[in-house]
Amino acid sequence: MDYGTDISIEDLRTHYDAVIFATGAIKDADLNIPGIELDGSYGGADFVSWYDGHPDVAREWPLDAKEIAVIGNGNVALDVARVLSKHADDLLVSEIPDNVYAGLKNSPVTDVHVFGRRGPAQVKFTPLELRELSHSKDVDIILYAEDFEFDEESDRQIQSNNQTKTMVGTLTNWIAEQPEDLSELTASRRLHLHFLHSPVEIYDDAATPGKVAGMKFERTELDGTGNARGTGEFVDYPVQAVYRSIGYFGSALPEIEFDHKKGVVPNDGGRVLDAAGTHVPGIYATGWIKRGPVGLIGHTKGDALETVTYLLEDRDNLPVAAVPEADAVVELLDARGVKFTSWEGWLALDAHELALGAAATEAGGSHGVEVKRERIKVVPREDMVAISRDGVTAQV
Ligand SMILES: NC(=O)c1ccc[n+]([C@@H]2O[C@H](COP(=O)([O-])OP(=O)(O)OC[C@H]3O[C@@H](n4cnc5c(N)ncnc54)[C@H](OP(=O)(O)O)[C@@H]3O)[C@@H](O)[C@H]2O)c1
Repeated sequence: MDYGTDISIEDLRTHYDAVIFATGAIKDADLNIPGIELDGSYGGADFVSWYDGHPDVAREWPLDAKEIAVIGNGNVALDVARVLSKHADDLLVSEIPDNVYAGLKNSPVTDVHVFGRRGPAQVKFTPLELRELSHSKDVDIILYAEDFEFDEESDRQIQSNNQTKTMVGTLTNWIAEQPEDLSELTASRRLHLHFLHSPVEIYDDAATPGKVAGMKFERTELDGTGNARGTGEFVDYPVQAVYRSIGYFGSALPEIEFDHKKGVVPNDGGRVLDAAGTHVPGIYATGWIKRGPVGLIGHTKGDALETVTYLLEDRDNLPVAAVPEADAVVELLDARGVKFTSWEGWLALDAHELALGAAATEAGGSHGVEVKRERIKVVPREDMVAISRDGVTAQV
């Protein structure tokens, strides 16, 4: 069910005293460099939507590159790099949808390069997600000694933040254990972590006009403040695909004010504001659409607590819904022919997916691989809706 299409703000106001928008952010932030529009240049968030089985994105993803660049040093860059480099069979223990398995199974990738524009002490990864990288079978992690620059500010960051200390420790251990002669590494795929590389340009070549053939970076150095500056030295990498994972950006909601610079709904602690900066009575926001696309689930919980606290503070002054009966919304949606689902419907879909997983496991795994499949995700929206509304039974 789509807000703005199936239901309007007026409908919501008619049926509820208050509305909380928790619509998050699903789009990639822009990276404004030449060549970003080339065929083979993708947004990491779009790729995440594909491999997570988002029902509203295409089922196919072009995976024809042997060498890939992933731009950014956040957890999304790590997720994207891990999925791109891992062998598809090793992803079957996860909830990977079948169309995604099929796409990744045929990927010819050999090298995935992750580029950060600052140093190893300035990464935005978190320790668990970084360590997870080393759990990929037949994938060697490669680091480069010239990228390991630590200035006084880095030392301060390492001493004052346990997460930074842990991650720098992990990275320095990995490089210390790496053979000096990289030809001694034997895995069929490699995941390279580069630091101090700022993106400059993506380019094609005469052999494949319009298609990514390589990427240029400027080497950077730390400037003593925690930031990095260009050195004037440029380096090129032959790659056939580029994934930018430099953050998300929120999307405007119909009939609600939007800050197009920050990509958030303007708000004061979760109270949504109008163009004049006044709280719109009964309208609230929480999560990434409230504070921007940063933070793990813990931050999101704290954020929700703040919004709900303000809502409760306002409860005596909320606008009163004209039709507050719970069934009225259901009747409205039914009358409009909206195919929505309910909590019971979600449980039915969950049971169906688990049953598909159990049946595949019992049949000896899937795709010729003996593996316990926890669940097999249903991806097409019409199938999800049909199963959750009509309780269609599991078939493998
Ligand atoms: N498993 C998990 O727990 C998980 C998984 C996914 C996401 N998340 C969370 O979701 C949030 C969003 O993650 P995210 O990875 O999208 O964002 P992020 O953590 O903000 O990381 C963005 C990265 O992009 C870099 N960047 C930004 N602009 C750039 C540019 N113009 N050129 C080069 N690099 C650029 C940033 O570098 P600078 O630091 O230099 O700006 C940073 O390394 C984070 O809080 C993350 O931890 C968690």
